[in-house]
Amino acid sequence: MATAARVDLDGNPIKPITICMIGAGGFIGSHLCEKLMAETQHKVLAVDVYNDKIKHLLEPASLPWADRIQFHRLNIKNDSRLEGLIKMADLTINLAAICTPADYNTRPLDTIYSNFIDALPVVKYCSENNKRLIHFSTCEVYGKTVGSFLPKDHPLRQDPMYYVLKEDTSPCIFGPIEKQRWSYACAKQLIERLVYAEGAENDLEFTIVRPFNWIGPRMDFIPGIDGPSEGVPRVLACFSNNLLRHEPLKLVDGGQSQRTFVYIKDAIEAVLLMIENPARANGQIFNVGNPNNEVTVRQLAEMMTQVYSKVSGEPSLEVPTIDISSKEFYGEGYDDSDKRIPDMTIINRQLGIALFPLSFWFLFGVKIILTGFGCGSARLEPQDITLGLA
Ligand SMILES: NC(=O)c1ccc[n+]([C@@H]2O[C@H](COP(=O)([O-])OP(=O)(O)OC[C@H]3O[C@@H](n4cnc5c(N)ncnc54)[C@H](O)[C@@H]3O)[C@@H](O)[C@H]2O)c1
Repeated sequence: MATAARVDLDGNPIKPITICMIGAGGFIGSHLCEKLMAETQHKVLAVDVYNDKIKHLLEPASLPWADRIQFHRLNIKNDSRLEGLIKMADLTINLAAICTPADYNTRPLDTIYSNFIDALPVVKYCSENNKRLIHFSTCEVYGKTVGSFLPKDHPLRQDPMYYVLKEDTSPCIFGPIEKQRWSYACAKQLIERLVYAEGAENDLEFTIVRPFNWIGPRMDFIPGIDGPSEGVPRVLACFSNNLLRHEPLKLVDGGQSQRTFVYIKDAIEAVLLMIENPARANGQIFNVGNPNNEVTVRQLAEMMTQVYSKVSGEPSLEVPTIDISSKEFYGEGYDDSDKRIPDMTIINRQLGIALFPLSFWFLFGVKIILTGFGCGSARLEPQDITLGLA
């Protein structure tokens, strides 16, 4: 419940503010809006072209927070109302982006425009109007690890310095230009540099967030059910789709890439701390992830297959996974980062974020995702999932 007695990390009372949240209708935005409505007195001007994922927060008008959230349907590419909304708010949070890997090499122009060009006016309006900005970037700005260039059995591969990703020391290593997969990472990197430069030269108060594979309900879509039938969502939704359709899970290039996953509600806690502790968050770039939850994509497929079989009562397929080349799956120009382990020193120091819990939350996240998608396709009920994994 919302409470008037909220204090920041230094014990000062937190005054309610108005937040212009761009991309509020997406996965992260919907969870952040939920948290802000349920636990704070802040107001949200929710900007997006869609509102399906936040409809439950907008209607009916009798909701206790009805006077604290307003939806503004607009495309930030070409809408003159944007500056007015930013001016009305104390803080702008920019989440809007094309951020599905299957688009990076197949729609590189849209990807670059969305992640760089479309974000430019947001940064400019915040800077010109002296408004604070929290900009969502990505862990992809690190690209490949230094360690991935060492021979496989090289002893330095064991040294965290060569693969753990640290905001203030790790380089950003992308592949060649014809590997168009890097269009997203490169656009995000350039907008980060612009935000940082606005901070350095024009005193823009900013925070940059680099999420490391946040997962949970309302993430992506199931092709043909709540998204385009030929669309390719992010890996968890791809695997959920395969499971729900009783198809083998497709492992791109053997599923050897390693990822660390974090449950959305843990990550949102960190974002709320950034919102409510500007003195500690301004001028910072934060990794937000769980270094303890590392799995290969193959392990993820095996885990999700087991979870699905347990909750649905259906036996696993005889051949639960098949290998597919990245060229066949994603098309020409695909490439990938080998490993993404966040260093959490800076966010621990500034916001006192303890390491997120171990893999329990990871499993929980998987189960919630299946719950979300299962409900969408009417094959699984939430209670089946909860019981199955209790
Ligand atoms: N989910 C993750 O784990 C993750 C990882 C790395 C980075 N990020 C970053 O976090 C941000 C949010 O990610 P998400 O997972 O919620 O993505 P999402 O696709 O679910 O949400 C993005 C939202 O932005 C909206 N949007 C896009 N272009 C717009 C425009 N021109 N005008 C108005 N609205 C527009 C979309 O309609 C969508 O609702 C993105 O910037 C993404 O790059 C997320």
